[in-house]
Amino acid sequence: MTRRDLLAAAGAWTSAVVLLRGQHGVARQHHPPQPPDELAGPADVTLRIGEMDLELAPRRTVRTLAYNGQVPGPLVRARRGRPLTVDVWNDSREEDIVHWHGLHIPPEVDGVYEEGTPGVPPRGGRRRYVFTPEPAGTRWYHSHNPAGRDLKKSTYSGQFGMMVVEDGNDPGDYDQDVPILLHEWDPYLRRNGPLDVEFKYFSINGKMLGAAEPIRVRQGQRVLFRIVNASATLEHQLALPGHRFRVIALDGNPVPAPMWVPVVDVAPGERVDAIVEMDNPGVWLMGGLKAPQRDAGLGIVVEYADASGDPRWAPPSPFTWDYTVFGPPAATRPEPDGRLTMAFRAKDDGHHWMINGKSWPDTDPIVVERGRRYRWVLDNQSADPHPVHLHRHTFELVSIAGRPTSGVWKDVVVVPPWKQAEIDVVADQPGLALFHCHQQFHMDNGFMAMMIYQG
Ligand code: C2O
Ligand code: CU
Repeated sequence: MTRRDLLAAAGAWTSAVVLLRGQHGVARQHHPPQPPDELAGPADVTLRIGEMDLELAPRRTVRTLAYNGQVPGPLVRARRGRPLTVDVWNDSREEDIVHWHGLHIPPEVDGVYEEGTPGVPPRGGRRRYVFTPEPAGTRWYHSHNPAGRDLKKSTYSGQFGMMVVEDGNDPGDYDQDVPILLHEWDPYLRRNGPLDVEFKYFSINGKMLGAAEPIRVRQGQRVLFRIVNASATLEHQLALPGHRFRVIALDGNPVPAPMWVPVVDVAPGERVDAIVEMDNPGVWLMGGLKAPQRDAGLGIVVEYADASGDPRWAPPSPFTWDYTVFGPPAATRPEPDGRLTMAFRAKDDGHHWMINGKSWPDTDPIVVERGRRYRWVLDNQSADPHPVHLHRHTFELVSIAGRPTSGVWKDVVVVPPWKQAEIDVVADQPGLALFHCHQQFHMDNGFMAMMIYQG
C-alpha cells in the first residue's frame, strides 16, 4: 500500500473516532430507538440485563449484573448458517452491549460500540440483534462495556454465557457435554508494584467449590468439557486428578493434532474443548492448580455413580501448556501478502498499555485489504502475559516464542512475557474489527487498536 492510501484510510478512521467519541464520550448520548418493524415477531433468544443477588455458596452472596437473573447466562445453542434473532432488554441504569465472542458476524451486530454496534438503552430499553452464527464451535457472549475502575461492570460482572454453534458435523463421540465457565468475584484494586486487580471469590458455573451439584459421571463415559475462561483478568490452569484431558478444540476450532494433557490452561476469553475418559472411579475435585484459589472457590466436584466420600485433590505433575503441540510444525499455509509488527509495552505508570508506542484511542489503525493474508508479529515487551483477541476473525498460529506450528486456529492468543507470537490473519470479514487484550484492566487502559479494511 502507498503512503497516500494509508493516510486516506487513516483519515476515514479519524472521522469514525470523532463520531464514536461523540456517542460514548462524557456527554453520553443514546442511539435512537430501533424502528418498530425491526422488532416485530418473537426472538429466538431473549437476554435481560439486570441486577441480582448471586448465591456463590451458603451465606456468600454477591450483587451483580447478570442475564436473565442467572449466572452464567442461558446456554445458547444455535445452528451454523441459520439466522438467529436475539432480543436484549436492559433493566440496569447504564447503557450496555452484548458481544458474541468468536463469531464472524458484521460489526453492526458484533456487540462493540467502537465498531459501530448500537448499545442497549438503560432503564428498560431493548435492542434486537439479528445475525447468522459462523463458524461452528464453542463460542461465548459477554458485556463489552468499558469498566475502567468501576469493577462492577463488564466482564467483572455476571454478564457472560456460553454459545454453542452446531453444524451437524459434530462427531458426537462423547456421552455428556458439560459447560465449565470460570469467573471471579468481589474485585478490588491493589497496588502491588503496578496497580492491579485482585479477587476474593472464584466460581465455576456461578458456584464456589462445594456449593454446586457435582458433575455426575459413570465409569466408561466420555465427557466433553467445554471450558470458557470468563475471567476479567486472570489466566487459569485446571486439573482433574486421576484423569487426563484430550484437547480437541481451541477457541472452539478443532485442532489438527488432539493431545492428552494433565492440565488445561485458559486465559481470559479463551475456550478449550477437552474430552475426559471416566476410568478412575471415585469422587474427585476438578479445580485450579493454585491452592488459595481452590480454597476461594475455584473447583467443582466430579462424582462417579456409587462413589462417596470427600472429593480428592492431588497436584498434577509439572506441565507447561503449549499451543504449538496441537498442530504439526511443518506449515502448508500460503505465504503472507503483508507483515506487521505490534509491540506491547507498559507506560511508566505500569498500568497503561501501548501498542507501538500509542494507547487507545490514539493507536495506529491496522489497515488491511480484503482477501489478503497478513503475518502479525506480536512482540510482548513486558513481564505480563497478554491474551490478545481479534474480533470477527479467526487467525492461524504460526509460532509461539519461536516454536512453529500450523493448523491451529484461534481468536485469542496469549503472548508470553518478553516473547513473540506470530499469527496469520486472513482479511475476509470486511468492516471494523477491534483488536485488544482480553485482560479487562489492560483493555480499559489503552490496549486496543482497530483493524480497518481499506477501500
Ligand atoms: Cu471477548 Cu472484545 O471480546
Ligand atoms: Cu494484556
